[in-house]
Amino acid sequence: MTSAQILTASDDDLRQAAGWLAQGGLVAIPTETVYGLAADACNPEAVAQVFEVKGRPAFDPLIVHVSSARATVDALEAAGVCAPRQMSAPARALASRLAASFWPGPLTIVFPRGERIPELVTSGRPTVAVRVPAHPVALALLERSGLALAAPSANRFGRTSPTRVEHVRAELGGRIRFILDGGPAPVGVESTIVAPDPEGGLVLLRPGGISLEALEAETGVRPRAPDRGTGVLAPGMLEAHYAPSKRLTLIRLEPPTDPQTRAMLERALGSAGVVGLIRTAGPAEVPRWLRDLGPGVSWRAVTLSAGGDGREAARNLFAILRDLDASDAELLFAEEPTGTGGLWPAIQDRLSRAGARP
Ligand code: TXA
Ligand code: MG
Repeated sequence: MTSAQILTASDDDLRQAAGWLAQGGLVAIPTETVYGLAADACNPEAVAQVFEVKGRPAFDPLIVHVSSARATVDALEAAGVCAPRQMSAPARALASRLAASFWPGPLTIVFPRGERIPELVTSGRPTVAVRVPAHPVALALLERSGLALAAPSANRFGRTSPTRVEHVRAELGGRIRFILDGGPAPVGVESTIVAPDPEGGLVLLRPGGISLEALEAETGVRPRAPDRGTGVLAPGMLEAHYAPSKRLTLIRLEPPTDPQTRAMLERALGSAGVVGLIRTAGPAEVPRWLRDLGPGVSWRAVTLSAGGDGREAARNLFAILRDLDASDAELLFAEEPTGTGGLWPAIQDRLSRAGARP
């Protein structure tokens, strides 16, 4: 296929995108978090193409996106997307509350699977992950098409998620027909994924665009980590993910006190001519002690947010990873975030997975 055509939010373009989806085609769509690769969630052949185009393993289920008109548990049930009636009363009440408070928005809720969702979408699980994206172009397309759209992030499996049209084009441009342009993604990290438990508790499967404080303030429930030993609840929690093609190492931005860290840094800096440094907060500068450990190194230093603002840092994260990956830097360091709360857990999560070795 030749390079993908970029569509706008015009009436004609939305009609074209909706028509292509209805025929079983794929369209990359903007959301407030990252761009997604969308297919009709009720069409197994279309969904199979998503896995193929992304190079995604079949055990990793997709998130289903629905329009604002379906943003309640009753409407979702009526549409056959999920089956909240199978939930316990406390779990169902919590899911309703979350939907009312956070949709449209970057929160994904795990429900019992509805009868219209093929098993391919959920990788054979009895549950389905659902969200209503808070992006006007995504919402317009969902409404126009009348479809539920299965959409993982629009990148090749395991790579950095796209937050701009040009990222999608670089990842998938030769493999899909249409990319819908919605501008840079305003949140920049993926949705928070939660699963209500039967007792009315909440399990956090992935930190993301909705903070834990916001979830707790709204529901009175503090999300907890998944129980160990229950199998992989969210395969997107795979340790190595979001990876640039260059080696990325997380470091604390203070002089190392232990000899191993010092030796590791000296070794790395001794063998590289150009090194990228991602500051998570503060100025785009390399601290003196780090320069001294690699006197021959040319640095490419950037900051996610000079003022240490988590929202700004999240918005910049994936674009900066991508830019440094494309730069002349031979290896990359990223500062361990020191910020807490808000979007910082999501940033910490993405950076540590980007740095993990598969
Ligand atoms: O913000 C987002 O969520 C973006 C945009 C496009 O909406 N989407 C996204 O999709 O991040 P993806 O495929 O990159 O991540 C989907 C995650 C995976 O980690 C998957 O394991 C998890 O959702 N997931 C999907 N269905 C699930 C289920 N039934 N139970 C638990 N986790 C599920
Ligand atoms: Mg992804």
